[in-house]
Formats: sequence, C-alpha cells, structure tokens
Amino acid sequence: MNSSQLNHLYDFSGKTIVITGGTGILGGEIACALVGCGANVAILDRNLDPAQRILQLMEPRANQAVAVGADVLDIESLRHAAEIIQEKFGTVHCLVNAAGGNQPQATTSANLSFFDLPTDALRWVFDLNLLGTILPSQVFGKVMAEKGDGVILNISSMNAFRPLTRVPAYSAAKAGVSNFTQWLAVHIAQGYSPRIRVNAIAPGFFLTRQNRFLLTDEQSGALTPRGRAIIDHTPMSRFGQPEDLFGAVLWLLSPASAFVTGVVVPIDGGFSAYSGV
Ligand SMILES: NC(=O)c1ccc[n+]([C@@H]2O[C@H](COP(=O)([O-])OP(=O)(O)OC[C@H]3O[C@@H](n4cnc5c(N)ncnc54)[C@H](OP(=O)(O)O)[C@@H]3O)[C@@H](O)[C@H]2O)c1
Repeated sequence: MNSSQLNHLYDFSGKTIVITGGTGILGGEIACALVGCGANVAILDRNLDPAQRILQLMEPRANQAVAVGADVLDIESLRHAAEIIQEKFGTVHCLVNAAGGNQPQATTSANLSFFDLPTDALRWVFDLNLLGTILPSQVFGKVMAEKGDGVILNISSMNAFRPLTRVPAYSAAKAGVSNFTQWLAVHIAQGYSPRIRVNAIAPGFFLTRQNRFLLTDEQSGALTPRGRAIIDHTPMSRFGQPEDLFGAVLWLLSPASAFVTGVVVPIDGGFSAYSGV
C-alpha cells in the first residue's frame, strides 16, 4: 500500500453519515471532521437551535450537511428522519450514536444519597444512553441490512470498563452500550452481512455540558476534587479535546478497519491502563 491508497481509505466523499446528538459538543465536532473528509453528514438532534453554529463551522462545505430533528427515544421520529436523509442523500452508509449523557438528579452527592435517587432520573439516563443507541441502530441498521453494507459507531465511556463513583445509572447504561455493541456486531454480521460492522469508542474525560458541573467549580473554574483525581489518574495529565477522538472515529468508520467489529476503543490518555500505583 502506498500513501495515496492509504489516503483514499479516509476519503469519505459520497458517503452519508448520520450523527445522533449531532448538535452536542462531541457529535458536532465529529460532524465537522467528517464533512472535512468529504462525507455528507446528517446532524440529527431533538433541538436544532445549535445546528446553525455547527453548519457555519463547516463552511465552505456546509452544503454537504443537513440538520434533521428527531428524538432518539421516539422510533417514529427516527423513521421520519431516515426518510428525509435518504431523500436528500440517497442512502445511509454510517451511523454514529453520539446522543447520550447524565444528569445531576441521577448523581449521588452530599445532598442526594443513592437510596434517594429518583426513579425518573435513573430511567432517563438508562433510556437516553442505551435505548437511545438501540433505536437509531434499528432504524438506520435496517437501511444497512437491506444493502448489505454499513458501519455503526457507538459512544461508550470509561465507566463501562469499571464504574465511576457517583454515577450508577450512567455507568450501568454505558456498560450496556458496550455490551450491545458486541451483541449487534455478531448478530448483524451473521444474520445480514459480514460487511456491516459495529464498534464503539470509549472516551475518557472531555469537558462538556454533561460533566463540567462535576469536574470544575462553577464559580472559579478550578478543578473539583473529582476533576483533580481524574487528572492524577490520567498518565497524560489532561482532559481530552474533541479532536483527540478523530483518528479513532475515522479509522472505525473507514474501510481501514474492514476486519474490525465488536470492539470498544478507549480514548482516554491512558486512564484505563493505570492502576494508580
Ligand atoms: N464528555 C465526556 O467526557 C464524555 C465521555 C465519555 C462519553 N461521552 C459520551 O459522548 C456522547 C456525546 O457527549 P457530549 O459530551 O458531546 O454531550 P452533549 O454535548 O450533551 O451532546 C449530547 C447531545 O445529545 C442530544 N440529545 C439528548 N437527548 C436526546 C434525544 N432524546 N434525542 C436526540 N438527541 C438528544 C443533546 O441535546 P440537548 O442539548 O437538547 O440535551 C446533545 O445535543 C454521549 O453519549 C456521552 O455520554 C462523553
């Protein structure tokens, strides 16, 4: 293989990639990177207000992208989105399941014990992360199954390997996402086509809306004791930046990983490798 053949593997021209949670911090950055590599991208989110900012970041290639409203927990809205996307771009080649998150009401604290975590909040976290990955995989995975080709990329988390303190539902839900990644990889390769692959990335700690309140002090911006503990436990001594995800995302979506399915790739600055001693 020479460098032009290698570059060709990462040329996504003519490929259509759907990104749920595409107006979020990580989903939006991944969307911009993929448009930059030639892909047509459908940003799918329940609230499209932030989409305009992301489309502007994509200039002069914003015509390769479309923002479509859908709730990852509402299968009919996903089916409707799939119709709109296929009408615009013809078909769907890849799905990135980036919608997910945690919430303070599902997080233990000095004021909220595990025993008092409200059922609604726990269910919200399970549903968003796990069901919110399964339902888009049903809708867009079916399009892939019909043509025998495609890639699904899920977003798991560090806490899928070993649970992190304070976030029981988020940890269990992301463990479910990793488990589902393996399950669907096997099911779809054996039952539909070995050319449909399902993998996941497990980001370490990236400062975004969902964890900023846990890792930094709202007033001063200084690290909380939890934020400090994470940095101390990360051999690379920093939080991740969205662009740290790009290499693994492009690899797993491209034919460069044609024989890779059912894996969960940590992108964590060494956090999961470090025993603490
Ligand atoms: N940040 C990290 O350190 C980290 C680490 C490991 C894994 N992850 C995972 O990476 C993914 C992206 O996280 P992020 O940090 O970029 O979070 P984010 O900025 O909150 O993005 C998540 C996006 O999903 C959308 N969303 C929520 N519920 C939805 C629904 N029912 N239907 C459709 N869209 C919905 C959110 O919309 P709203 O704004 O309207 O809620 C938001 O745009 C998540 O799965 C997260 O769990 C993040």
